[in-house]
Amino acid sequence: MALKHQIRKFLPPEAIKVLRNVNTSLRKVLPVKWLTWYSNLKVGKYKDKSTKDVFTDIYTNNSFWGGTESVSGTGSDLRNTKSLIDDLNKLLVDFNISSVLDIPCGDFNWMNKVNYNGIDYVGADIVEALVKINAEKYKEHDNLKFVLLNLIEDPLPKSDLIIVRDCFVHLSMESIYNSIKNIKASGSKYLITTSFPEHPINLDIITGGWRTLNFQAKPFNFPKPVLVVNENYKGSNGEYKDKSMILFKISEIVVPEDGYFEGQ
Ligand SMILES: C[S@@+](CC[C@H](N)C(=O)[O-])C[C@H]1O[C@@H](n2cnc3c(N)ncnc32)[C@H](O)[C@@H]1O
Repeated sequence: MALKHQIRKFLPPEAIKVLRNVNTSLRKVLPVKWLTWYSNLKVGKYKDKSTKDVFTDIYTNNSFWGGTESVSGTGSDLRNTKSLIDDLNKLLVDFNISSVLDIPCGDFNWMNKVNYNGIDYVGADIVEALVKINAEKYKEHDNLKFVLLNLIEDPLPKSDLIIVRDCFVHLSMESIYNSIKNIKASGSKYLITTSFPEHPINLDIITGGWRTLNFQAKPFNFPKPVLVVNENYKGSNGEYKDKSMILFKISEIVVPEDGYFEGQ
């Protein structure tokens, strides 16, 4: 478990609150270069590794994401996904969704509470062990399939809805760019993904780290979302209370043909 999480266990709640407030205030005033340096601090060792090796290492060592309920971290705990589950159930009906690609699916911890009756669900991840465990656990469910896929470069099954939750936030700008191009190439209809509408800065990071992303801001400048679903995220002292899943018509997303998304 990461040192940060171990230290938190021994600090009184008030001390944790003070530390988080200092962190939040600093992030608002520090130059972008410093913020990028900080975001990359723990992940320098991943600089020249393949995306598959990075996330297999994180999975194997349960290194960064904390939490005890899901290997995908506290953001995938049921207390942080309760309202999202209800909102997704409604979305599947309202938008007449009959096929879903959930990439990455992680350990399917909270997603298994979503009602996929009558819907073809494909869960995909880059970590082989996770896909194997999910496939074995849900083998009796005919409408649930788990496959090994790399969002960045593998051909993706054409689906009514592609769900990309808590993934781009861990990828470099170049990998996000290639993933979005790949999603567009699949011919799928809708994309719902994580975005932080009140965090305007989009940093470039080493894949495996983490930072907030705002797809309405530059360099993405995505169109107005069809729907914004706030996750009611409870953690981090309210710093990420804007954490949302935003829905787009994939055909409306414009990706620069010969360029890439440049971080700030
Ligand atoms: C924080 S977890 C989120 C999982 C899930 N979406 C959720 O909400 O619980 C991030 C996941 O992204 C997967 N991942 C990272 N890069 C990927 C890629 N290029 N293709 C497929 N999966 C990827 C990791 O293996 C990990 O399981």
